[in-house]
Amino acid sequence: MKEQARKAIRLCRELALCTEEQGKITRTFLSPPMKNVHRALSDWMGDAGMRTWVDAVGNLHGILPAARTSAPRLLIGSHLDTVPDAGAFDGVLGVVLGILLAESFQGWRQELGIEVIGFSDEEGVRFGTPFIGSRALVGSLHEADLDLRDRQNRSLRDAIRDFGLDTSGLKHARLAGGAIGYLELHIEQGPVLESLDYPLGIVNALAGQSRLDLTFGGKANHAGTTPMNMRRDAMAGAAEWILEVEREAASQEGLVATVGRIEVAPNATNAIPGSVSASLDVRHAADSLRREHVDQLVSAARAIARRRGLELTCRRQLDLPATRMDATMCKRLEQAVQAMGYPVHRMTSGAGHDAMIMAPHVPSTMLFLRSPGGVSHSREESVLVDDVEAALAVGLEFLQVLEVQYA
Ligand code: HGY
Ligand code: MN
Ligand code: MN
Repeated sequence: MKEQARKAIRLCRELALCTEEQGKITRTFLSPPMKNVHRALSDWMGDAGMRTWVDAVGNLHGILPAARTSAPRLLIGSHLDTVPDAGAFDGVLGVVLGILLAESFQGWRQELGIEVIGFSDEEGVRFGTPFIGSRALVGSLHEADLDLRDRQNRSLRDAIRDFGLDTSGLKHARLAGGAIGYLELHIEQGPVLESLDYPLGIVNALAGQSRLDLTFGGKANHAGTTPMNMRRDAMAGAAEWILEVEREAASQEGLVATVGRIEVAPNATNAIPGSVSASLDVRHAADSLRREHVDQLVSAARAIARRRGLELTCRRQLDLPATRMDATMCKRLEQAVQAMGYPVHRMTSGAGHDAMIMAPHVPSTMLFLRSPGGVSHSREESVLVDDVEAALAVGLEFLQVLEVQYA
């Protein structure tokens, strides 16, 4: 299996060349490079004996049917989009490993089908709303979402059509019946497994997350002629608030809060910023505590704006509750990890994953692979061949356990 592990890493690095920005890995919802990813993965799925198709929101599907047509199937999926200037493994590794597992599994007793899904968007970079692909699958992507616009003022509906897909097919993007579970293999994207020197982790639950956009409105003016006491500087207000975000999160155990993106207008060295938009990402395992701190941070922004004579607008983009994985599926995954002789570690994921969207609809579980250096959402992101080999061995054992169970 070492060779297959090397093949998985090699393919992820090849797919990393499908990017919107030369020299970086950036692949957002239904951008042109996604066509090349679909082509490469569809070819490989086809070689593995899978039937492939792309659904109305650009999710790539490959299905390896069981010998018995009425047999159930396991979904194995993750996302194919990336954040800007990303690493080569976040998301795509889970799809590549799914294909490898299907390839290795065929020829078994064939009492269990496998459907591998490459979701079109999990990061939410292009339209500001994440999980477009998996939400379409479970029916929580709504007509109103199709009117969301990207920075080029293209709507989500336009993006689907530009990619050659048909939005009227949205209702057909729904998951067909017969799925007995969802498995997502994904890099941990954090430091825990490396600190334990463990190759794998089993995800019990995923932290809830809030995503907001706050805009501080001041008065653009000349940087050279406007006295300090006559300014309404939107950047200074936003900066004061961003430090408050860091202070608030550091004061609460288990809370993380991040301002990852700001947009400044007019964004010139010699102009006092008139408007600054800032993103806010807040996560915690307990929803009530997360929401309480979100409210406190919005109140802090209002107080800072008032004191500085700024306007404040706040858009709540996402409130995704903390999600538990299915106990039985996690137990089976734990048995597979033990059977393969690897240490078992149950953990909560601070990162969001498509498994959060799938879990209320199909029994879901996740297998984490160690992130060397705990690094992700960065070009330094990596995986170890031995850990990929461990994930493949455990994944195959998991499939066999399920097949016996469901045959
Ligand atoms: O933001 C997240 O948690 C995930 O990486 N999209
Ligand atoms: Mn990510
Ligand atoms: Mn991811």
